[in-house]
Amino acid sequence: MDIDLLVVGSGFYGLTMAEQCAEKLGMKVAIIESRHHIGGNAYSEIEPETGIEVHRYGAHLFHTSNERVWDYVTRFTSFTDYRHHVLTRVGDQVFQMPINLGTINSFFKAAYTPDEARALIANQSQELGDKEPENLEEKAISLIGRPLYEAFIKGYTAKQWETDPALLPPGIISRLPVRYNYNARYFSDTYEGLPVDGYTAWLEKMADHKNIEVHLNTDFFDTSQPFNKDSAVGQLPIVYTGPVDRYFDYAEGDLSWRTLDFEKEVLPVGDFQGTSVMNYGDQDVPFTRIHEFRHFHPERNYPKDKTVIMREYSRFANRNDEPYYPVNTTKDRERLAAYREAMAGEKNVLFGGRLGTYQYLDMHMAIASALTAFDNRITPHVKTGEDIA
Ligand code: FAD
Ligand code: NA
Repeated sequence: MDIDLLVVGSGFYGLTMAEQCAEKLGMKVAIIESRHHIGGNAYSEIEPETGIEVHRYGAHLFHTSNERVWDYVTRFTSFTDYRHHVLTRVGDQVFQMPINLGTINSFFKAAYTPDEARALIANQSQELGDKEPENLEEKAISLIGRPLYEAFIKGYTAKQWETDPALLPPGIISRLPVRYNYNARYFSDTYEGLPVDGYTAWLEKMADHKNIEVHLNTDFFDTSQPFNKDSAVGQLPIVYTGPVDRYFDYAEGDLSWRTLDFEKEVLPVGDFQGTSVMNYGDQDVPFTRIHEFRHFHPERNYPKDKTVIMREYSRFANRNDEPYYPVNTTKDRERLAAYREAMAGEKNVLFGGRLGTYQYLDMHMAIASALTAFDNRITPHVKTGEDIA
């Protein structure tokens, strides 16, 4: 097939772009993907011993308030009515997250009304008076007071960042939501659910088009394969969704990321923790949370005597680790500005997605961003035969 567009990376950004170009513009699209599977981090697989769907790169919850995104995604899958809730274990107790009136009343062993709880937390937030917060710890105390900070934020944050919050910059958080009611739903978007037949069926359906071919195990920087950076740039339009620093051979320095390590285990019990995600707030527990995947699909016929759990650990990424969350230090922002100039100078290459733009994007945001770029950056140029970027 003669190719009109090369898409590097098969996450939601790349798949959306490929699908729109193939379907709406009749372009012939090749997607190359370095991993052995499509879908980027949204990919899931069936654990063979139990038949339970496991989100390979951490729990993925779909939610959006964007009508266009909802119309788009429901072309490829339907969604269950799963509503996400998170609990957190601190010491020998379990609390609801995000912090709400239920959390506060359990924690203080009280029965405060919303106004009483608000007054209590306002009072506890005054501990540092008018002092300008100099670090994350002081910032958090100024927002929710010391008792809630020490129970719910301190240990968890220290584990996420491998750094004592008293040594982290205050700007990492701007707010810490506290709900003065018993609403414990994690997301507040209009639409929420999990794909009925799983993520991989959804992702594969997006790529299932006569004008799209997918090449797995194919790295854009491997010059031995047909579509690589050296042979393709300047020859055809490219949508690149890999790491932007890697594209430019780290010329402006490495952008820093956090990564996660996952430890999967099949256990001979029907239900390990009674819920899909349990956070662990204590600093002396090395993992940040445990996922138990059966609870994402209570409607499925999963075995009653086995379950799959996955412990999640957080750390700074090296070049060879999977980049998950941008760290976004001052230095990162300077480097990103330099990379943005380089991107603008790279003719006929559109940089998109989480890695290509160095920003955390939820699935619905990656899809929305690709739909917009398709409208504004691809469609007008393809119609006139100009470069796409
Ligand atoms: P990605 O999904 O990262 O896809 C990029 C693809 O490009 C990857 O498949 C990669 O292998 C490929 N690639 C990179 N370099 C090359 C190369 N040189 N050659 C070929 N291919 C290459 N979103 C939600 O909405 N809800 C959630 O609950 C949620 N949880 C998340 C949890 C974690 C731990 C992470 C990291 C993300 C989570 N997300 C969640 C976001 C979601 O996974 C995606 O990040 C989002 O859909 C963005 O997709 P993307 O296409 O930009 O990037
Ligand atoms: Na460009």
